[in-house]
Amino acid sequence: MGSKSLWLLLAGVLLAYCLYTPLPDNIEPSWKLMLTCAFLRIQTHLAPLLEMLGFRPFLLLDVLEVPPTSDENVTVTDTLFNNIPVRVFVPKQKSSTLRRAVFYIHGGGWAIGSAAWAPYDDLGRQMVENLDAVVISSNYRLSPQYHFPTQFEDVYDALRWFLRKKVLAEYGVDPARICVAGDSAGGNLAAAVNQKLLDDPEVTIKVKIQSLIYPALQALDMDLPSYRENAHLPFLTKHQMILFWSRYFTSDKVLEEAMVANQHTPVDSSHLFKFLNWSTLLPERFIKGHVYRNSIHGPSDLAKKYPGFLDVRASPLLAEDSMLKGLPLTHILTCQYDVLRDDGLLYISRLRAAGVQVVHEHVEDGFHAILLYSSSVMNLKASLRVVNKYLKWLKENL
Ligand SMILES: *[C@@H]1O[C@H](CO)[C@@H](O)[C@H](O)[C@H]1NC(C)=O
Ligand SMILES: *[C@@H]1O[C@H](CO)[C@@H](O)[C@H](O)[C@H]1NC(C)=O
Repeated sequence: MGSKSLWLLLAGVLLAYCLYTPLPDNIEPSWKLMLTCAFLRIQTHLAPLLEMLGFRPFLLLDVLEVPPTSDENVTVTDTLFNNIPVRVFVPKQKSSTLRRAVFYIHGGGWAIGSAAWAPYDDLGRQMVENLDAVVISSNYRLSPQYHFPTQFEDVYDALRWFLRKKVLAEYGVDPARICVAGDSAGGNLAAAVNQKLLDDPEVTIKVKIQSLIYPALQALDMDLPSYRENAHLPFLTKHQMILFWSRYFTSDKVLEEAMVANQHTPVDSSHLFKFLNWSTLLPERFIKGHVYRNSIHGPSDLAKKYPGFLDVRASPLLAEDSMLKGLPLTHILTCQYDVLRDDGLLYISRLRAAGVQVVHEHVEDGFHAILLYSSSVMNLKASLRVVNKYLKWLKENL
């Protein structure tokens, strides 16, 4: 068989595998999107096997990485901030004034992803081009090799390193114009580090704005309407999200199983559900016909062994109002076809109730990870629209 027909066969198998899940009608049809989804699903299935054989479980995704390449407009370098690897994008053109800066945190379920992934590298360049900003794209150690709070602490350490007069001066950054942003698990980390900064007396430079793109914000209730409605969509299934969440805290399957049953929160922590009670916090149009069920309580030893999921640094929705009220102007982007949609919506309600100014953008034909499909190779129009919305908001508010 020639290599051409082999490729065709492979593409056919991949497609058949992915088409197995029908997509909602108003999602822009794209074979490339389907193929990517199939590739990600195959990688998810292969992960345990690769791990068993002694490889990194998400080895195949390394193909997405690109080296730091400068061009006529931007200098791109990989460096360390406080020992944390970051990719830095600095505009080449001389500026007579200080620049704004975006500290960006990539997504990938705390398990995959890198500032070197082509879509994130691309986003970094777009932020430079559109905002004339200095962009720091932070890495952090990943699960399952590293669990919470390593991911949080890595990002926080890199951010703290950056938020110092000396470092900002070195990069020509205006300390009054800094944004912390991230998507998905990166949105989780962005929300968490921004909360943490509020009570860190050692950091005096304040973040001006935050942008959270379809963030994950709570690990207590896996039965929100968005989890129910989008459980089987290929972009991010409920089961994949539960795997990501549980692996963030432990490789012990017991937590994963308890989360699948939504029975992981112990009775003595049941008061925490008031912070994410969707029957009162979600706008009516997202509740639709869904009936709120008080969750069934899990064994207390689970939370004793893996207290991370009850920790506000992992579940920013668990913050008290008194903490939230200090947060800066916030941009939250949610997608209709996303298990994490309601995490974002709940945070918007909580932030507004605490008096924080929030700009909400809801993408009706959007799905999880849509930001990553805007490159000239993927060329998904809906994705370009989302990237442009994000850039526009930054341009106007940073
Ligand atoms: C550099 O910037 C100019 C002016 O905005 C643009 O036309 C050009 O395409 C950019 N080069 C690259 C490599 O992006
Ligand atoms: C959530 O809100 C509903 C309706 O107001 C209420 O019946 C329920 O007890 C609340 N549950 C929790 C855990 O706060």
